[in-house]
Amino acid sequence: MTQHEVRPLRLGVNIDHVATIRNARGGHHPDPVRAAMLAANAGADGITAHLREDRRHISDHDIARLSREIALPLNLEMAATPEMLDIALRHKPHAACIVPEKRQELTTEGGLDVIAAQDQLGHYVEKLKAAGILVTLFIDPDPAQIEASKALGVDQVELHTGAYCDAQGAERSRELARIVEGAGLADSYGLEVHAGHGLSFDTVEDIARIPEIVELNIGHFLIGDAIFQGLERSIHRMRALMDRGRGLHVQERKA
Ligand code: PXP
Repeated sequence: MTQHEVRPLRLGVNIDHVATIRNARGGHHPDPVRAAMLAANAGADGITAHLREDRRHISDHDIARLSREIALPLNLEMAATPEMLDIALRHKPHAACIVPEKRQELTTEGGLDVIAAQDQLGHYVEKLKAAGILVTLFIDPDPAQIEASKALGVDQVELHTGAYCDAQGAERSRELARIVEGAGLADSYGLEVHAGHGLSFDTVEDIARIPEIVELNIGHFLIGDAIFQGLERSIHRMRALMDRGRGLHVQERKA
């Protein structure tokens, strides 16, 4: 990448926790598909949803409706299991982000342990790619995990920002430096670089400033903030902070 090139930064809005609230009572309210439509109108570039094995928030029916009813690209977060592979192949989302769901699939910081699961993951990556689905691995900003992802032939990696968001002071600076270095390394391997987990108004700008990152996926904070100011305003504010981090100096949009 040339030093002067500013890559656009996409915002993928994760609507899982709209479904969490719905499921607290059962029934249909609030509807995550309606939230996805609102997010689209507020300027989201994509919709992200995690169909968990235990279906604790997003349901199979939500995925079917999101695939049918939403014009934005759908990023399906999924565990590497035969059941989830079948679902992904049936709905053919724009992208599938493979995430850990079980303790043994996790690294200490929370990303996928690609090194330990290389053979197993290879099978899923191959099938998803053959169906024309972009494949992302959700990993820690760890050079060894980035190299292992590259070796598997994935299109994209999503760097886990949870440790950075949870840390304070000097520890936060160290975590940020790891993400900066990880993004540079992944980009130098030709991987498209995404980031997410735990991002908020306080933490997003430093991540948006990293030029190699092209997409952020943000859910929990946005859905929580929407309780206070409405989803559109929350998305506008997040967008404005992303633009400011990127150095685009775009006026904060008024809801
Ligand atoms: N990216 C990935 C891969 C995730 O698994 C999650 C959480 O579901 C997110 C981003 C969004 O994290 P948060 O809800 O904390 O914004």
